[in-house]
Amino acid sequence: MDSMMLRSLVSVTMLLLLFSNVVLCQSVPTTMSAATAENIGLQFRALMDQDVIEDEGVTSTTILLAGLVRLIFHDCVGNGCDGCINMNMTDNRGLQTYIDQVEGLYTSGHVDETPLAELISRADFWTLGAIEAINYGCEKAQGNCRRNCPPVPYPNIVFQTGRVDCPTAPYDEVEPPLPQALKGLDHVLTFFADTFGFDEKETVAILGAHTLGAAHSDASGFAGPWVNRRQNFDNAFYVDLLRSDRGWEMDRRGPRGARIYQWSSTNTNARRIMLNSDMCLVKDLGTITSEGEVACTYDECPDAPLDVLDWVKAFALDNDLFLVEFGKAFQKMINHGSSNLNDLTA
Ligand code: HEM
Repeated sequence: MDSMMLRSLVSVTMLLLLFSNVVLCQSVPTTMSAATAENIGLQFRALMDQDVIEDEGVTSTTILLAGLVRLIFHDCVGNGCDGCINMNMTDNRGLQTYIDQVEGLYTSGHVDETPLAELISRADFWTLGAIEAINYGCEKAQGNCRRNCPPVPYPNIVFQTGRVDCPTAPYDEVEPPLPQALKGLDHVLTFFADTFGFDEKETVAILGAHTLGAAHSDASGFAGPWVNRRQNFDNAFYVDLLRSDRGWEMDRRGPRGARIYQWSSTNTNARRIMLNSDMCLVKDLGTITSEGEVACTYDECPDAPLDVLDWVKAFALDNDLFLVEFGKAFQKMINHGSSNLNDLTA
């Protein structure tokens, strides 16, 4: 080998070493101990404990417990969960509040002496937060039980690490297709099949996430919670979908400019909502206008196809079954796009 070749070889090797060093310095570990994950989970809970529910009715309150679950869904759509959201997309409106709330923890929080940002990627961090939120919601659903309480039923969602952030986390300018709330069953089934490979059962199960939180007029334009207790995670969403005595009626929102329709309950003190993309799980909504208006009433619309409706009925009857199937679908969603995830170490 002549000296010229040797010099080039040395330079290339040095460049490679420099590059790998930069990459290594910038990246976070892809493994984590169970104790560290538990510690971060508790820090999320402390933040969620600051949630204040001002009103269980139609007035919209943001709660982090719900926001974390919506955030990870939007993060995982597209090529996979990568800790990045495009806040220029109207479909992501409302997420800024939640990103801001947890960004403070990510950039300033520690486990022992180590900053969180050196321990965990944002995508893993948001994932852990969403799992913690769901488990916390299950505990809240058990109500005020203090003594001799039955064990809390949780969905079995396993937290693994190794999701890689996009280089500009927590934001990017990628525009993944997000599902449209004004649309009906064909759109919903196609979206979840194309995005996460879900079948009918998985699609019905994942939408049970709408038990948490609310829609906000200053975000999506829709307004109100889906169920009465928006911090509780259970099968209440399916129970309400099937109850015609809720007095479900099409309700036009957005007085200035945007006219969009949601379903609002009219027979209850605590007002509840459903979007067309929820209601289509129980009713064949027929032709829907671009504003989301449906021609038939709740009682007139024919039933949704049985391969969908039967799962709604099954989940409404059996909370444990719902949690099992929700857990499986959620696991698939949070693992979407990541090929090398690692179990927590002892
Ligand atoms: C057809 C699919 C879906 C559509 C069309 C849809 C649409 C929406 C809309 C319009 C809102 C209201 C946002 C606001 O105004 O603040 C919302 C909230 C929410 N979504 Fe979905 N969503 C879908 C699927 C999902 C999935 C798969 C999850 C989680 C696994 C999820 C979790 C949530 C949660 C927890 C909220 C409440 C957020 C809060 O309280 O701020 N959604 N969704």
